[in-house]
Amino acid sequence: METRASETPSGDSFFVRNSFLIYRLFSLSGLLPIGGYLVIHLLTNATVLDSPATFQKQVYTIHSLGMLLPVVEWMFIFLPLIFHAVVGMTVISTMHANTAAYPHGPNIRYTLQRATGMIAMVFILWHVFHMHKMFAAFEGLGAAQFDPHHAASSAGDALQASLFVQLGYFIGVVACVYHLANGLWTFGITWGLWLSAAAQKRAAYICGGFGVLVLVFGLSALFGMTQVDTEKARVIEDRMHQEQLRLQGEDVANDTSVDDAVH
Ligand code: HEM
Repeated sequence: METRASETPSGDSFFVRNSFLIYRLFSLSGLLPIGGYLVIHLLTNATVLDSPATFQKQVYTIHSLGMLLPVVEWMFIFLPLIFHAVVGMTVISTMHANTAAYPHGPNIRYTLQRATGMIAMVFILWHVFHMHKMFAAFEGLGAAQFDPHHAASSAGDALQASLFVQLGYFIGVVACVYHLANGLWTFGITWGLWLSAAAQKRAAYICGGFGVLVLVFGLSALFGMTQVDTEKARVIEDRMHQEQLRLQGEDVANDTSVDDAVH
């Protein structure tokens, strides 16, 4: 019988033969870089609570990577996330939910980990479409709302558009944070960091506390965006943009986008 390229003569696919390594990489990618990025992302966005200028400064720091930014985004965020999501969906497709028959804590958390993984996937796809400039061609459909030169006002406008948007972000942020905090606990088991029942109990408190802290960052960011006075923020951001251009030695007078935004 003919053997496909991805199979050994014994019939095991590439994924079955390398399942140990793939699962370890899947586990690692969930914590670093994806989990680490999630924490920094929520914390950065929460700085909007201080002021639109504080948030704008953070965004300028990130964008100072210039042409390297897309490379960093793809290498450390999008590709690991796609890998984690593809393996995660494969894990989910083989799961047998039995929480109705055995409704105890670990079993419920096991099911919630998978449910929040799926919610995170849908939310992140929508969020990237909603905010990221790579979808600028679909602006008419509500995409690519975030403008790095008008960080707080553009994110504020996007978040203040409707209650539906705010609810979507609330559910998405809560799901991502739960998934990370509970994932941190299962990560410790995957890598043998806490194996005894007592160690797992202690770790559960630490991961729970970590989850509450990250949730505070996330909900502060969300609340902060809904509170931005976008008109006032735009004036501050325009001034900061002009200062940026002056520092870069560019001719502000020729920059019609700044004039358009100010007037
Ligand atoms: C915010 C983005 C995400 C973060 C921070 C994240 C993080 C993590 C972490 C740290 C783990 C624990 C790994 C381990 O137990 O060794 C994990 C597990 C898991 N993730 Fe994600 N993940 C994210 C998105 C997703 C997405 C989009 C999916 C796709 C559905 C997904 C599906 C899963 C599944 C099914 C598990 C459980 C695996 C198991 O226990 O066997 N995750 N995730």
